[in-house]
Amino acid sequence: MSQRVAILLSGGGSNMVKLAESMVGDHPARPVLVLSNDPAAGGLERAREMGIPTAAVDHRPFRGDRAAFEAALSAPLEAARPDIVCLAGFMRVLTEGFTRRWQGRMLNIHPSLLPKYRGLNTHARAIEAGDAEAGCSVHEVTAELDDGPLLGQARVPVRPDDTPATLAARVLAQEHILYPAVLRRFAAGDRTPVLLP
Ligand code: GRF
Repeated sequence: MSQRVAILLSGGGSNMVKLAESMVGDHPARPVLVLSNDPAAGGLERAREMGIPTAAVDHRPFRGDRAAFEAALSAPLEAARPDIVCLAGFMRVLTEGFTRRWQGRMLNIHPSLLPKYRGLNTHARAIEAGDAEAGCSVHEVTAELDDGPLLGQARVPVRPDDTPATLAARVLAQEHILYPAVLRRFAAGDRTPVLLP
């Protein structure tokens, strides 16, 4: 029986597309929902084009009442009966209650070599620090932001002429390889970290 995967996003959904495209053939998982906090998120249209059920709960009417927003978000999420939840560019901070509900079954991709650079502006911070390497990490989601057991990491060189945008593009290309590789292993019950290259 395939593992049911829900993907949460806030933006264009390039990671969602790569995850969904990977779940074919003998892959142990299938996408069952793409869910966003932004009804206008480009990733929702891309999911619809791929025939994946979608839902959106606009976070703005909840004006900072995270618990109320998450209760509304949980309705379509619970209805999809996911075995695994993938955060893929989901830009809302989740409460401990939500992360506990999905603990051990919720993954996130973060554009840095965790534990370095939790939070935002990761590429600018790596360039500013003069790092020789940057990259992305997939981890299990816990109550601590961008924390949790590491499930995969991909490294890229930082080039002297890099801007945050050029570095982000190089990292994103690796995200598109790393996240599907981690999901396939995770859905098969294997939590051995995927390390690239
Ligand atoms: C990626 O850079 C990811 O690391 C970060 O948000 C971005 C998502 O991009 N969390 P997309 O919506 O998957 O294209």
